[in-house]
Amino acid sequence: MAQYPTLKDVQSLTIHPIPHVALPAPHDKFCLSPMLSTDVRGAGRVLMMDSVASTSGQADTGEEVQQFVEQSMMAEEVLLELTVIRSLRTLGDAVPDFIGFFELRKMRPRAWSKARPSDPPVSRDGAHWTMSCFIDPAFGGTGLMTIAGQEYMKLCPYIHDRPGIVFAGYEQGNAPSRRLQARLGFRPIGKWYNARIGKTLVDTVWEGAGRVDTQTKLYERLQDMTEEDFGEEKREDEEHASKKR
Ligand SMILES: CC(C)(COP(=O)(O)OP(=O)(O)OC[C@H]1O[C@@H](n2cnc3c(N)ncnc32)[C@H](O)[C@@H]1OP(=O)(O)O)[C@@H](O)C(=O)NCCC(=O)NCCS
Repeated sequence: MAQYPTLKDVQSLTIHPIPHVALPAPHDKFCLSPMLSTDVRGAGRVLMMDSVASTSGQADTGEEVQQFVEQSMMAEEVLLELTVIRSLRTLGDAVPDFIGFFELRKMRPRAWSKARPSDPPVSRDGAHWTMSCFIDPAFGGTGLMTIAGQEYMKLCPYIHDRPGIVFAGYEQGNAPSRRLQARLGFRPIGKWYNARIGKTLVDTVWEGAGRVDTQTKLYERLQDMTEEDFGEEKREDEEHASKKR
């Protein structure tokens, strides 16, 4: 049987006023904590902001937000329940704040639909986890999401000896998401056109557990990305970095 981490396994967990793990400096005023039923309002507020709604693909009606919150509260769907970024000072409030979200959810990556019955599973129990995240833009651009993502993944021992078990992706052109994923150790492995939403999506795989050999895994049937595909992104990153210097 798979042993996924539970809150009880997290050494640094503080139980009161609600379970949480404080983030390291310079973001030590914030923490990771489980989704609460009171988050419907906070999560909805952030998810419905134009800049988030246009990219996250998470939810856009009240009912979908409700469903999203409920799914995040179900431990068997989520690798580790510490999915919500909050300020430590609001943890005792009747409705603690909701700043951002970082989660590994059990989901079939697109590559899976292309797997042949003879393909070996990427992990012993065949589980695979997809990363998704978003942050209230008022708190974005400070490195908070990077630290929250690094902490979350550190707290999930289950994934650390299973290269290829964690996937993510971004819409081509979503530079903040692409840069965040690169900082967290995700590597682009293929792209595809989603006709339903009319957008090109890039699939990524997490290499924090080791290099993934895309030739021998089921990802091999994804369309490989070429240097040309990355040319524009590289130019954009160089320009972005030189503006910041
Ligand atoms: C994708 C998303 C979560 C990224 O958030 P973000 O605010 O850029 O991420 P961070 O909080 O880590 O901030 C990163 C920025 O802080 C800067 N930064 C400052 N100090 C930093 C530090 N100590 N560590 C890392 N970054 C730091 C980085 O340089 C970076 O800026 P840059 O992208 O201009 O180079 C956010 O844009 C978002 O919610 N988008 C909408 C939803 C979405 O696209 N989700 C992705 C689906 S997976």
